[in-house]
Amino acid sequence: MNAIEWKGKLSAIRDSFSVSITKEPAENPEALELHFLGRKGELALLLRDLKDIPLEERKPLGALGNTAKQEMEAKLAELKGATGAAGPAVKAGIDLTLPGWPFPKGSLHPLTHTMNRLAEGFLKLGFTMADGPLIEDDYHNFEALNFPPFHPARDMQDTFYVDAKDSGGKSLLLRTQTSGVQIRSMEKQDPPLRVFHTGRVFRSEAVDASHSFAFHQIEGLYVDKGVSMADLKWTVDTFIKDLFGSAVKTRFNPSYFPFVEPGAEVDMSCIFCKSAAGRCPVCKGTGWLEMLGAGVVHPNVLKACKYDPEKWSGFAFGAGIERFAMLLYGISDMRMLYENDLRILKQVQ
Ligand code: DAH
Repeated sequence: MNAIEWKGKLSAIRDSFSVSITKEPAENPEALELHFLGRKGELALLLRDLKDIPLEERKPLGALGNTAKQEMEAKLAELKGATGAAGPAVKAGIDLTLPGWPFPKGSLHPLTHTMNRLAEGFLKLGFTMADGPLIEDDYHNFEALNFPPFHPARDMQDTFYVDAKDSGGKSLLLRTQTSGVQIRSMEKQDPPLRVFHTGRVFRSEAVDASHSFAFHQIEGLYVDKGVSMADLKWTVDTFIKDLFGSAVKTRFNPSYFPFVEPGAEVDMSCIFCKSAAGRCPVCKGTGWLEMLGAGVVHPNVLKACKYDPEKWSGFAFGAGIERFAMLLYGISDMRMLYENDLRILKQVQ
């Protein structure tokens, strides 16, 4: 090969390199590098051919070859940088090495998540989901639940009355408890019946760490032949263990709610004070946490719904969902659940 032929070959390699490097979509830079600059690449082989050319002509040709090599290396480095991210973006002057905009994933609110967990548990136990209105009438919220007008137990649940012109003469109020859903379910369906409901309730309460004018409850009702306190105890114990683990214990204390007889308040053994009994701030050292109200459905309630109390019996229970959520997520102040603080909201993923 003489010097002219060598120069011709060099320029052919450069042309073919320029075509390859500007292709769209871009070629793999490593493959191009191997093809042109590798040990057996086109340029390397051509440079090796220099040895056949007379010494005096070899020097300028060598310089030309090296310049070509440097240019190719620079272009390849550029291509590597660009394809390492996204070719067109780099060409458009966008710096892909900058950190991206945060795009946080949304998650369920701890209360929604708690309601879903409770719902899952009751669906597994064969309960179906029931519903009822937030603006309720006095009959469903109180009277059919065995709270006659002026019954003192109404005072425990002071509420917001609604002044509506089209109420059809009914006294309307923001429901104080989900127990009205028991009545609505029994009105709709003949026994046997097994339902639960989760939803918002309202009371005329001053807001503090454990009270709010709006909060959430879960309500359950099971009516069949021969349903007893024993069925209630098993059901409550099962769902509490499902949520808080099989090591927790439950206990029933006698209590009064007009729509159940006997009525009970159910406690769960404190999940925080295993080793610090006597000093635990959550259960105040008692070792027990009050979790729900429950009991055997009062015959007057069954009668109001045209269920024959001689034939059917049932149990009912109701609990505050905030309480469950606070214990499940270790939240000490109920208000935190409504403030949309991301540190609280992010606890559920
Ligand atoms: N509705 C009651 C309350 O808000 C809670 C309750 C107690 C519900 C006993 C029940 C029950 O179904 O049987 O205080």
